[in-house]
Amino acid sequence: MGSLCRAWRNPIYGSLSQRHRGSTTIIERPTRAASVRMMASGPPIPPTESPVTQETAVDTLLSYHQETKHSFKKFARGPRGLDWANQPNPFRRYVGASIVNLEHFAEETGSVPYPEVGSGRVQAQPLTKSSLSQLLYDSLSLSAWKSIGTSTWSLRVNPSSGNLHPTEGYVISGPVSGVSDSPFIAHYAPKEHALEIRAEFSTEVWEKVKEGLPEGSLLVGFTSVYWREAWKYGERAFRYCNHDVGHAIGAVTVASAHLGWNSQLVDGYGTKELHHMMGLASPSSVPVTPTAARAVPSSSGILNKGVFPDLEKENADCILAVFPWLAEPLIGISELPVIDAETLISHSSQFEFLGHANKLSKEHVRWDRIYTASSASHKPHRRASVPSFGFGCRPVPEIFMNAALYEDYTVRQVVRKRRSAVDMDGKYGMQRNIFYQLLLKATVGTPGMFPYGALPWDTEIHCAIFVHRVVDLPQGLYFLMRNAAHEQSLKQACSEKFHWEKPEGCPPALPLYRLLTGDARILAARLSCNQDIAGNSFFSLGMISRFQPVLEEKGPWMYPRLFWEAGLLGHVLYLEATAMGVSATGIGCYFDDAVHELLGLEDKDYQSLYHFTVGITCVHRGNGGRKNVETEAQASQNEIKTKIKMSQVLKQVRLQLRNTQKSVGEEGFRHIEQVRYSDVHQAFSVGITPMKAPHQKLPARCCCICAFWLLI
Ligand SMILES: Cc1cc2nc3c(=O)[nH]c(=O)nc-3n(C[C@H](O)[C@H](O)[C@H](O)COP(=O)(O)O)c2cc1C
Repeated sequence: MGSLCRAWRNPIYGSLSQRHRGSTTIIERPTRAASVRMMASGPPIPPTESPVTQETAVDTLLSYHQETKHSFKKFARGPRGLDWANQPNPFRRYVGASIVNLEHFAEETGSVPYPEVGSGRVQAQPLTKSSLSQLLYDSLSLSAWKSIGTSTWSLRVNPSSGNLHPTEGYVISGPVSGVSDSPFIAHYAPKEHALEIRAEFSTEVWEKVKEGLPEGSLLVGFTSVYWREAWKYGERAFRYCNHDVGHAIGAVTVASAHLGWNSQLVDGYGTKELHHMMGLASPSSVPVTPTAARAVPSSSGILNKGVFPDLEKENADCILAVFPWLAEPLIGISELPVIDAETLISHSSQFEFLGHANKLSKEHVRWDRIYTASSASHKPHRRASVPSFGFGCRPVPEIFMNAALYEDYTVRQVVRKRRSAVDMDGKYGMQRNIFYQLLLKATVGTPGMFPYGALPWDTEIHCAIFVHRVVDLPQGLYFLMRNAAHEQSLKQACSEKFHWEKPEGCPPALPLYRLLTGDARILAARLSCNQDIAGNSFFSLGMISRFQPVLEEKGPWMYPRLFWEAGLLGHVLYLEATAMGVSATGIGCYFDDAVHELLGLEDKDYQSLYHFTVGITCVHRGNGGRKNVETEAQASQNEIKTKIKMSQVLKQVRLQLRNTQKSVGEEGFRHIEQVRYSDVHQAFSVGITPMKAPHQKLPARCCCICAFWLLI
C-alpha cells in the first residue's frame, strides 16, 4: 500500500523500480471500431463556437464522467504500465521568448501570520517586480527538490495529482518596472522562477482588456496540458487536470491575500477568447516536430500511440483578476469582461507571440475521450453578471479566525511547507476543537467568503466525512452542509437511515451533522482505491457535488468548474492542516459509485468529485510535540478500547459472512469480494459503539476482503 501511495505522487520513484525490472509499456487495447475512430478523429480541435447543442454537450460530459469512474470491478481506462521513455517534461518553456528572472524570498521573510490571511486587514502592496515575484513565488513556484539514489525531482507550492503538473500559469498586466515597459503577456516558468515575455502590446488595448476591473488589476491565467496527466492516468486525467486548476486558483488567491490583494475569476471570457489571449492560437504554441505526426502500431496493431505534437498543446482554462483588497466590496461593476469577443480576438490576433513551445515527450498516447470532454465543456464568451456579494472575496468572519489554535507560522511558511502525506500513523487522534476549527474554514461562512469568493458562483460542494480519530467525537459518518439551499434535496437524496444530528460541542456556525456512528476506517480506505491514508487519518472525506442539475441549469462548462471548486476546497484543507501542524493529502483515486451507494445517492443529482484525508504522518515520533494532537498517554489508553471494539465489529462481519454460506475458494472469494462491501457497509450502519484513537494498522492490501479474512 505504501508503495502504491508513493508511486501515485512520485513518477521518478516509480521509474527507478520500473527501470530495474525492465518493464515495458502496456497500452490500453481499444476495440477495432474504436481504433478506426481514433485514426479518423484527428488531433484535438482548438476551441471554436461550439457546433453541438448544450444538451449534447451535457450528455457527452455525463457519459465521460460515467466512463471514467473507478469501480471495485474495473479502473477507468488508462495505460496499464508507465512508458518511462516518454514521461512528459513537467516544465513548458517558450524557447526564444525574452526571460525576466524574478526575485526569491527566504521562508522566514513573510510577515503576515497565517490566521490573518483573508481577514482583509493586510495592507495592499503596490504592483512592482518584487510583489509580482512574491505572488508567483508563494503560489506556483518550486518549493522543494527530492532525491532517491540518482533520481531527483521537484515539488511545487501548488499540489498536483501524481506530481505531474499539467497546469501552466500566465500573467497579463500593464507595465511593471523591471519586467516590461509595455503591457505584456508572459508565461511563468516555475523551474527558473521567471517570466517568459511572449507578447507586448499597446496601452490602449490593455485599457480595453481591463475595462470594468478595479484599479490596479492584473490577470493571472491558467492552461492545462492534458497529456501530462493522461500519460499516467489515461481517460480520468481530464478530471485531475481540473482539480489541479482548482488548487492553482487557491494558491494564487492565498498568495494574493498575503500581499493585501483580492482575486476573482472573470468567468465571462469564452474558452476560444482565452485561447487567443494567452497566445495558444499562435502556431508557436505547438511544439515543432521534425517529422509529421505518425501513429505507431503497438503489438496489437492499435494506432493510438505515436508522435502527436498536438497533444502537447495547452488548453485554456480561466483567468483570475488580481487587484488591491478594498475596504468595501466592489458592487458597482455589473458585468465582466466589458471587452467583446470580436475586439478581443482581433487585437490578440495581431500580437506577435515570441518563443516556441518545447517538446514534452518523444511519443504520445491518445485518449480521445479527454478531448471530446474538453470540447464539450468549452465556454462561450458572454459578459457575466458579478455575484451579489460583489467582485472579489469577502473577509473571513472574525469568529472563524481563532488564531490561538494554529501553530506560529506565517502565510509564506504554510504555503511553502505544505506537502502531501505519503502515509498516516493510524494512532494519534486530533483534538475536537481543532477539528471544528478546520471545518469552519472549509465552510462558506458568509456569501463570497475568502477564498471561496474567488469563484463567482454559489458553492455546489459538500463533504461526507469519515471521522476516525477525533478526541471525544464518536467515530462515524458526518456531513458538512456547505450550502444550506441544498439541504432539503440532499436529505431527500441520501439514505433514510441517516440521523442528521448535530454532534457534541459543535459550534453553532458549523453546519455539521452526524449521519451514522461506527468505525469506518477500513471502509474509508477501501472506497479511496484501498489507500490506507484514508483510513489511518484523523478523518477523510468525499466532496459531494450537486452535479447533473448544475450542468443542465448553468451550462456544460460547469463540469470542469465543479472540479475547480473541489480543488479550491482541497487547497484550503491542505493549508489549514499544515498551519495546525498536521498533514493532508488530496485523493483523486476513489470508487465513485461505491461512495454514492454508501450515501444512498441513486441518480446523478449528486456525485463525489474528490476525496481528501487529514492526519499525522508516520515520520513523526510520538505526537511530534503538537498541541493539536493527542498525547502518548491518551493515545495508548484509547488503543486498548479500540482493540475491544474492533473485535466486536469483526464478530458481526464474520456472522454476516457465514450467512453467505460460501467457501473461501477462488469462486467464493470472488463472490465475497462483491458482497463484502455491503457487509462492511451494514456493519458500519448498524451503529457500532464509538471508538477513539484506534491503533489497528490496516493490513498491507487494505481491501475489506483481506482485512476481514486476515483478522477473523
Ligand atoms: C487532484 C489530486 C489528486 C491526488 N490524488 C492522490 C491519491 O489518490 N493518492 C495519493 O497518495 N496522493 C494523491 N495526491 C497527492 C499528490 O500525489 C501530490 O500532490 C504530489 O505528489 C505532489 O506532492 P506535494 O503535494 O507534496 O507537492 C493528489 C493530489 C491532487 C492535487
